[in-house]
Amino acid sequence: MIPVVKTIDEVRKYVNEWRRAGKTVGLVPTMGYLHEGHRSLIVRAVAENDCVVVSDFVNPTQFGPNEDFESYPRDINADASLCEGAGASIIFNPEPEEMYDNALTTVSVAEITSGLCGKTRPTHFAGVCTVVSKLFNIVKPDRAYFGQKDAQQLCVIRKMVKDLNFDIEIVGCPIVREEDGLAKSSRNTYLSEEERQAALCLSRSLKKGRKMIEDGEHSTEKVIAAIRAEIESEKLAKIDYVEIVALDTLKPVSEINVPVLAAIAVYIGKTRLIDNFIIE
Ligand code: PAF
Repeated sequence: MIPVVKTIDEVRKYVNEWRRAGKTVGLVPTMGYLHEGHRSLIVRAVAENDCVVVSDFVNPTQFGPNEDFESYPRDINADASLCEGAGASIIFNPEPEEMYDNALTTVSVAEITSGLCGKTRPTHFAGVCTVVSKLFNIVKPDRAYFGQKDAQQLCVIRKMVKDLNFDIEIVGCPIVREEDGLAKSSRNTYLSEEERQAALCLSRSLKKGRKMIEDGEHSTEKVIAAIRAEIESEKLAKIDYVEIVALDTLKPVSEINVPVLAAIAVYIGKTRLIDNFIIE
């Protein structure tokens, strides 16, 4: 069975041994409750590195006071089977006390964290950047793998890596979807059957928006209106945001003539789901 490592010292022992043997190391940071989306990251990491660490840690500092930290789904045994099947070398599954031993330091990225998800989750990205920096320092990987579903997170991490000179290649991987289009997410498990059906309005609305752009529409306002209308036709859905922003700055654009990210966050009942597409 794949080793499930609980301490930072133990992870370092594994990594130091691999390094002495001249091996390359990949890191796949996760919060566990792994699904096909995570599996695709691990499989890619295994293909591109000699050894792969999957971190499996529900990071308390990236949850707001009224968010779902306590109820976030956890299943380390199922995660271990998936990691082993995908070819990972070890799982790092620390307790919060191991990661945050009276820590007073945080890492935060300005500007690009204030829009999109940052509007309603003002402390989220500092929590993400802090834990990812710690994981980078613990594992010292050659490459680290993140999903494009969390597009703002990926952009923020790339910026942090550049600004802080981490010598790590950040690999962004495509969104993995269910057959009917719903983007895979650990939070999909919160959805009732009726909500699961309703959640299809996210991918459906984005498909519509993408088609409009591909057919030549340049007006952000019109594309956003069409996406909103499609979501609003679903009675269980409540929009948090629908935005089209420049891919590099994450600032809203009025005309679509640069690479853009169209990103949405929508409550289906109490569950907040995100999805997006990029037009290069
Ligand atoms: O994307 C996630 O699952 C988390 O934000 C991450 C990157 C593992 C940090 O806790």
